[in-house]
Amino acid sequence: MKGIVLAGGAGSRLYPVTRVLSKQLLPVYDKPMIYYPLSVLMLAGLREVLIISTPHDLPRFEELLGSGERLGMRFAYLAQPEPKGIAQAFLLGAEFLGTSPVCLVLGDNVLHGSGLTGLLARCVTTVEHQGGAVIATYVVKDPERYGVVTFGRGGAVVGLEEKPARPRSNHAVVGLYFYDNEVISIAAGLTPSGRGELEITDVNRAYLQRGTLRVEHLGRGVAWLDTGTHETLLDASNFVQTIEQRQGLKIGCLEEIAFQRGYIDRNRLIELGKAMHANDYGRYLLELARTDGESAL
Ligand code: DAU
Repeated sequence: MKGIVLAGGAGSRLYPVTRVLSKQLLPVYDKPMIYYPLSVLMLAGLREVLIISTPHDLPRFEELLGSGERLGMRFAYLAQPEPKGIAQAFLLGAEFLGTSPVCLVLGDNVLHGSGLTGLLARCVTTVEHQGGAVIATYVVKDPERYGVVTFGRGGAVVGLEEKPARPRSNHAVVGLYFYDNEVISIAAGLTPSGRGELEITDVNRAYLQRGTLRVEHLGRGVAWLDTGTHETLLDASNFVQTIEQRQGLKIGCLEEIAFQRGYIDRNRLIELGKAMHANDYGRYLLELARTDGESAL
C-alpha cells in the first residue's frame, strides 16, 4: 500500500496566519503539523508517500522533508493547481499509485492514542487482502462540521452525509481513508458537488453502494484533534505539550518511528539528532539512540 498526504487548500479560515504559510506547516507544539499525519502513515507501515500541496507551498514541504531517504522513506511531491476536492488526490496521484491500494490522510489531522498502531495495521491488511475501503469514525460534539455516518438497525452503515445541517449521528468521518486501487476509477467517475469539489464522501458512498465499505470506530482511548480554528489549533498544541511533558516521549516524531521500525540505524539517528543543533528535539533523538529507544517501549 502507498500513502498520500493531502496538504493543500486555501487555509483561509486561519487567515492571517496562513496568508503566506501553508496551514500544514504551522507548528503543533514542537513540530510542523504535517509530521502528525505523516507519522500515521509510517505507523501503518507505509514507506512510499506522495505529498500533495498547492503550487505555492509545495517547495516548502520538499525543503522540509526531502526525498525521505534520511528516514528510510520515499517521498514524492505533486501540486494541486486548485483545491478541487479531497477526492482529486486519487486522480492527481494515479501515476504514483499505479496498481497499488492507498491510504489517504489529510494533512491537518492529528491522531494519537492507545491501540492506534494495531488499528492501522488491521486497516492496511483488510484492504490489501479483501479489497474495498475502510474508513474511521470518531464521536464528536459538533458532527455538522464533518462527514457523518448514519447507522441502521444492528449498527450497519446505511448512509454518509457531508456536513449535514441535521446530523443523524455524532459519528464523524476521520480524515484517514484506506482504499483498493478501484478508488482511482471511482474518483474519475465523480461529478463535482455544489461547491465545485470532488467529495471524499461521494467516494465513500460509492463503496457503500458496492457493499465494500467497512467502518472502524476510534474509541475513547484515541484523540482525534481538530486544527481547523485558532482555538482548536492551540488546543492541539497544548494536548501534545501535556502528553510529551508528562511522559518525556514524543508524539508524531518521524525520526523515532523510522528508528523503531528499523528503517534507519543508530548512526543515522545520531546524525539526525546532531542536525537539530543541540535543541530539545535533537537531544531527544540522541537519547533514543543512546538507549536504543528502550524508554519509548
Ligand atoms: O477532517 C475530516 C473531514 O475532512 C471529514 O469528516 C470530511 O468528510 C471531509 O470532507 C473533510 O472536511 P473538511 O471540512 O476538513 O475539508 P477541507 O475542505 O477543510 O479539507 C481538509 C484538508 O484537505 C485541508 O487541510 C485542506 C486539504 N485540501 C482540501 C481540499 C478540498 C486540499 O489539500 N485540497 C482540496 O482540494
